[in-house]
Amino acid sequence: MAIAMKIASQISKSSWIRKMFEEGERLRQEFGADKIYDFTLGNPDVEPPESFSRELLELAQNPLPGMHRYMNNAGYAETRSAVAEKISKDAGFAVPAGNIIMTCGAGGALNVVLKTILNPGEEVIILAPYFVEYKFYIDNHGGVPVEVWTNRDTFQLDIDAIEKVITAKTRAIIICSPNNPTGVIYPAESLKRLGDVLGKIHKRNGHLIYVISDEPYARIAFDGQQVPNIFPLVESSIIVTSHSKDLALPGERIGYLAANPRMATAGQFMEGAVFSNRVLGFVNAPALMQRLVAKLQDESVDIAAYQAKRDLLVNELSGMGFSIVKPNGAFYLFPKSPLVDDIEFVKLAQKFHILLVPGAGFGAPGFFRIAYCFDIDMIERSLPAWRALAKEVGLKG
Ligand SMILES: Cc1ncc(COP(=O)(O)O)c(C=O)c1O
Repeated sequence: MAIAMKIASQISKSSWIRKMFEEGERLRQEFGADKIYDFTLGNPDVEPPESFSRELLELAQNPLPGMHRYMNNAGYAETRSAVAEKISKDAGFAVPAGNIIMTCGAGGALNVVLKTILNPGEEVIILAPYFVEYKFYIDNHGGVPVEVWTNRDTFQLDIDAIEKVITAKTRAIIICSPNNPTGVIYPAESLKRLGDVLGKIHKRNGHLIYVISDEPYARIAFDGQQVPNIFPLVESSIIVTSHSKDLALPGERIGYLAANPRMATAGQFMEGAVFSNRVLGFVNAPALMQRLVAKLQDESVDIAAYQAKRDLLVNELSGMGFSIVKPNGAFYLFPKSPLVDDIEFVKLAQKFHILLVPGAGFGAPGFFRIAYCFDIDMIERSLPAWRALAKEVGLKG
């Protein structure tokens, strides 16, 4: 085989979204794009805020000397300060710029963190349903993913279940709030409980377990909700995030990581993480994007538009008989599959020209994911097809 067996095997396990995308392309060619209702990809179809283009133009017309050169591997001081100022506001205490590293998206940040902290064979707890790339990122750095379910009725943290899977080899827990794929936000009380459990373990035997808080959807919260900042709640926490979703810049690969200054080991962690950013080959986050996002820390795409799409889909699909936990943020729904086999249900949906991802793709069989980061017209046009699909599986429709 021309490629490593492990990669070949991982490709076959990770291909749900890709499979759906390919099926979508086939159906679009056969029936025309306007007849296919594709809810598979979490690729925002909105444009970045207007301020982004304004700043980009300003920079192009008034270039700074040396603005395309290498820099400190952690990023520009000005950008790290802007990010630190925003996080300090959210956390309620000072987070120094030295605790920030600009990264190639949240995916880049996750890889930097995992490379920095993992010894071979150490375990990282991931919470089903989860963003499937976590497993591959953990494996990239010699770690072992340990899956544990969130509460199956609410998708909230099940701290007792997490406690039960902690072993002497546990190095980290990855959480994601607002969550992909469920859209739920973890409230401050449950994050604090998690922090207390880990704090006790640390005190008891010096075993440090990091909470890696993956937050690319943190600015996409509905009904006036605020996503609690993890730093005051969990001492051993590291934020990883990006502007892929909140500024609609996924192709630009710009994000950052931030280490909680209350963590005694933050200095050593940062030294390791700057080195990892370099030797993973990222070297530094894209220079031009760093200049731009430094000016956009309080901006985001139109959250009300996402909320309107959530409301439309939750109301319509619940009315048809689908069982859905109403999400508080991000742009996903994760309803129960009306058929026991979620893969069978997703295949059936294709017959109605609706493209979905099975829960199995998120370590959570028995559910399916809808991404609704698409034009509201497409969502409205899809409703008769949803009704017919609901009837076909014995729901009200
Ligand atoms: C939960 C979660 N984490 C990380 C990422 C990776 O984001 P980025 O594009 O910033 O690397 C995504 C992207 O969809 C995501 O949904």
